[in-house]
Amino acid sequence: MTLLEAAKIRISRRAYIPVFIDADKKAALQKIIDGICERSGLNIKLMENGEECFSLFKSYGMFSGVKSYFALAGKANDPLMHEKVGYYGEELVLEATRLGLGTCWVAGSYDKASTAFELGEGEALSCVISVGEIKETENFKEKFIAGIIKTKRKTAAEMSKNYDCAPDWFKNGMECVTNAPSAKNVQPIVFEYTPDGVVTENTGTWTSNRIDHGIAQYHFELGSGRKITDYD
Ligand SMILES: Cc1cc2nc3c(=O)[nH]c(=O)nc-3n(C[C@H](O)[C@H](O)[C@H](O)COP(=O)(O)O)c2cc1C
Repeated sequence: MTLLEAAKIRISRRAYIPVFIDADKKAALQKIIDGICERSGLNIKLMENGEECFSLFKSYGMFSGVKSYFALAGKANDPLMHEKVGYYGEELVLEATRLGLGTCWVAGSYDKASTAFELGEGEALSCVISVGEIKETENFKEKFIAGIIKTKRKTAAEMSKNYDCAPDWFKNGMECVTNAPSAKNVQPIVFEYTPDGVVTENTGTWTSNRIDHGIAQYHFELGSGRKITDYD
C-alpha cells in the first residue's frame, strides 16, 4: 500500500482491541518516528499508558481499548510548532495505516495530565494520536460517533480558490486534501492556485486548526507531487 492509498482508506478509529502493538510493528513505527524526529526537530514518542489517558471518563466515552498512542511535542517558542506536528504527524498516521493499524488524532478528548510524557527543555505537548489494532467487525461505535461529529465533507472545489482554472496537479492535490482529517471535521484550510504557486489560508481560529493546517498541506503534497512547505 502506498501513502496515497493509505490516505484514501484512513478514517479515525476509536475502538481498539486492548492489546499492545506487537514487537515487529513497534520496531517499524520506532524507525519511522526516529526518521521524522531527525528531519523535523519534533519530539514524538510511542507511549503505552493509553488506559490512563483514554479511560471511559477521560475520553468522554468516545474511545475504548486504547493501549498505545503517539505523543507529539515541539519547541514552545517555534511559531509553526502545531503546523509541523500536523504535517509530520500525518506522515506517521499514514505509515501506521500501511501497517494495518487504526489511528485517531486527539487534541481534546484525553487526559493530558496522565500522558507521563517527558518534555525536553523548552518543549510543549501539542496533541496525541491513538494507535492500535482495530476490530474490523466492531464499527457500530465508529458509525455512531461519525454520525455525531461528521458534517458533510467539503469538495475539492469548496476548499479551493481558482479551482476551475487550476492544472491537474493542483486538482489531484485537492482531492487528497478532501480525505485529510481535521478537528471536528471542519476542514478549515483553503488552497489558492496562483501562477506563482499555491497559497494556503487557515480560516479556523483554534490551536487544533493549526494542526489541521499541517495535515492538509501534507495531503496536498502527497496528492499533487509538489512541495509547498519548507518545514525541513
Ligand atoms: C487536530 C485534530 C484533533 C482532533 N481531536 C479529536 C478529539 O479530541 N476527539 C475525537 O474523538 N476526535 C478528534 N479528532 C478526529 C476528528 O473528529 C476526525 O478526524 C474528523 O471527524 C474527520 O473524520 P475522519 O478522521 O474519520 O476522516 C481530531 C482530529 C484532528 C485533525
